[in-house]
Amino acid sequence: MATTEKVMRALESVKDPEIGISMTKLGMVRSVEVQGNTVNVNIALTVPNCPLTAQIRDDVTKAVSAVEGVEKIQVQLSPMTEEERDRVVETLRNRTDTEQGGAQQAKRSSGLGIERLPKGSIGRIIAIASGKGGVGKSLITAMLAVELRRHGFSVGILDADLTGSSIAKIFGVNGRPARTPSGTAPPVSRTGIKLVSMNLLMDREDAALIWRGPMINSAIRQLYADLEWGALDFLLVDLPPGTSDSPLTVFQSLPVDGVLIVSSPQDLAVTIVAKAINMAEIMRTPVLGMIENMSYLTCPDCGKRIELFGKSKGAQFSAASDVEFLGSLAVDPVISRLCDEGRIEEYESASFASIAERVIEKTRQVEVPQELTRPDILARRESRR
Ligand SMILES: Nc1ncnc2c1ncn2[C@@H]1O[C@H](COP(=O)(O)OP(=O)(O)OP(=O)(O)O)[C@@H](O)[C@H]1O
Ligand SMILES: [Mg+2]
Repeated sequence: MATTEKVMRALESVKDPEIGISMTKLGMVRSVEVQGNTVNVNIALTVPNCPLTAQIRDDVTKAVSAVEGVEKIQVQLSPMTEEERDRVVETLRNRTDTEQGGAQQAKRSSGLGIERLPKGSIGRIIAIASGKGGVGKSLITAMLAVELRRHGFSVGILDADLTGSSIAKIFGVNGRPARTPSGTAPPVSRTGIKLVSMNLLMDREDAALIWRGPMINSAIRQLYADLEWGALDFLLVDLPPGTSDSPLTVFQSLPVDGVLIVSSPQDLAVTIVAKAINMAEIMRTPVLGMIENMSYLTCPDCGKRIELFGKSKGAQFSAASDVEFLGSLAVDPVISRLCDEGRIEEYESASFASIAERVIEKTRQVEVPQELTRPDILARRESRR
């Protein structure tokens, strides 16, 4: 005969498809009612309009139908309340803490969960994310850094894509972080952008390392906290693709002020981009906007704009999702050549310059907790306007 306990036990194996943790552990199972052979399950969704609702319903139904004596299942789904969401964030933080273990945990956490590292002398931390890989995240990160530098800001890039580091290559930087009398400083590009990629720190044999949650966490924290970044106006964080452990770790560990979402037109299907937006929402980080990459190609002979993947869906997506569309970047063979040659700092594009202007504008609008602001940096930036 079916019982509430048996159904709850069955639900322990159902993971949230986005976060990859059991729904029962995340507190997503609000209630289970068993009446004879009928089971009613009430599930709380982490975000409203969750694109994975159908999958969640299927997974729950499948797990519950395996319980002996169950013949009819009704799954009710509705968005979480603020309090429920707070508990999910806390669970995620505590989980990473537990994985950290022992001395390291004692050193880095106050017991309540993994602490976000302090801002130090960094004005704004912006993470660049996407729902899937290969859409040009690293390129957009690099080009944004170049534009910010052209505005006179001091800029750093932390390449948090530990297994697919590409930032150093795009800038033609291959030196290792340098020892200084007081610690270790990140390498600097030709125009003065401080950057660090995991591959600048790894020995050859480490390259095949499989990064697991706690190791990713500790590597990212080290890249951020143990390097001497000095005073920066902006630190850009190039996130690994998707919504797996690594990007979540970045959000848990670093005091990210805002997220930029990159997509290509054919991937602008709401489900893919929404994944990245959901991740930012769960981690309570504002989404600054969305940039569409590889939107079109300009014919080198006649100058005609060829929309390879059909009409841009950026504006349409923006209207449907409440995320500002910041603009689109063309496919340009010059870009790929300069990336291959490590000379991205030589690339100029008026349309991307205006996207960068918009990003700067957006970062001014983001609220930063009082204790994290650096009045001197903000004042310096204002005086440059
Ligand atoms: N607009 C563009 N024009 C020409 N080449 C581009 C453009 N955007 C990206 N590329 C090229 O496409 C490739 C993938 O871009 P990039 O590495 O930035 O993607 P990514 O989203 O960071 O990928 P990953 O998810 O693997 O980290 C690179 O070789 C890059 O130079
Ligand atoms: Mg990349």
